[in-house]
Amino acid sequence: MTTVAVLSLKGGVGKSTTTLGIAGAAWARGDRVLVIDLDPQANATSALDAAPHPFTMNDVLADGRPGIAAEALVSSGWGRGIDVLTSEEALAHRNRPEGPDSATRLRITLQGVAEAYTLVIIDCPPSLDELTRNALAAADRALIVTEPGYFALQGTDRALRAVDVARDTFNLRLRPAGILVNRVRETLGEHRRHLQTLRDDYPSLLVGMEVPESPEIPEAQRAGVPIQAWPSPGARIVANAFDDVLDVLMS
Ligand SMILES: Nc1ncnc2c1ncn2[C@@H]1O[C@H](COP(=O)(O)OP(=O)(O)OP(=O)(O)O)[C@@H](O)[C@H]1O
Ligand SMILES: [Mg+2]
Repeated sequence: MTTVAVLSLKGGVGKSTTTLGIAGAAWARGDRVLVIDLDPQANATSALDAAPHPFTMNDVLADGRPGIAAEALVSSGWGRGIDVLTSEEALAHRNRPEGPDSATRLRITLQGVAEAYTLVIIDCPPSLDELTRNALAAADRALIVTEPGYFALQGTDRALRAVDVARDTFNLRLRPAGILVNRVRETLGEHRRHLQTLRDDYPSLLVGMEVPESPEIPEAQRAGVPIQAWPSPGARIVANAFDDVLDVLMS
C-alpha cells in the first residue's frame, strides 16, 4: 500500500489532473484505489463522479476519531474498485491549525481504512496550509506538480522544502516521489528550456514525470470518466504518461 500526496504551491498547475490520471492508471491495472479530495474546490470529487455523499472530508476532520473516514467512503462512478473521500466548500474551514494534533488528524481518521487499498492518493488545495500539512502527515510519498513556466518553477523549490519540514516535524516516513511537469509542449523552445533547468536542478526527481498538454484532459474530466477510458489517440498518450508516473511511484 502506498499513500501519495499531490501538491503544488501554485494553483491550476494540474494537481487534480495528476491525482485523477494516476488514480485512473492504477484503477485500469485492477488495483484498489482510494482518492481523498482535500481541496474545498472539490474538483476531483466531481471528475470522479462520486456517489451521493452525506459525509465529506470536512465532517471526517471535524470528528477526528481513529478510523472515522470509513463512514464517509463512497464509490466513484468510474466503476468497481475505486472509492472517494469527498470534499465540499466548507472544508475550507479546516485550512488553519486547530489544537496540538491538528496536522495529524487525517492520518488518525484513516487508521484501518487506508490498508484496504493498493493506492491512496490525496488531492491537495493550492497552498501549504493545514490541509496540505494533513496530507503530508498521512502520506509516504509527496508528488510535486509544476508547469514548464518561470513562476511555477519558483514554487517547486518551496514545495520541496515543505516536504522536508513535514518529514522532520511529524512524518519520518515521508519521501519526495518526484516532480511531475504538466502541460508540456515539446515543440515550444521555452518549455524545453524550463524542462532542462528542472533536470539540471533536480536530476533524480524528474524521471518519467512529464505529461503533455492535451485537450482531451478537460473533456474527460467534464464527462466524469478516466482519461484511460477516453477513446482518442491523444488520450492514449496521456494515459501512457500517467502509467509511467505510476511505475515510478510504486517502485
Ligand atoms: N496536461 C493538460 N492538458 C490540458 N489541460 C490540462 C492539463 N492539465 C490540466 N489541464 C486543465 O487545466 C485546468 C487546471 O488543472 P487542474 O484542475 O488539474 O489544476 P489544479 O492544480 O488542481 O488546480 P487548483 O490549484 O485550482 O486545484 C483544468 O481545467 C484541467 O482540465
Ligand atoms: Mg485541484
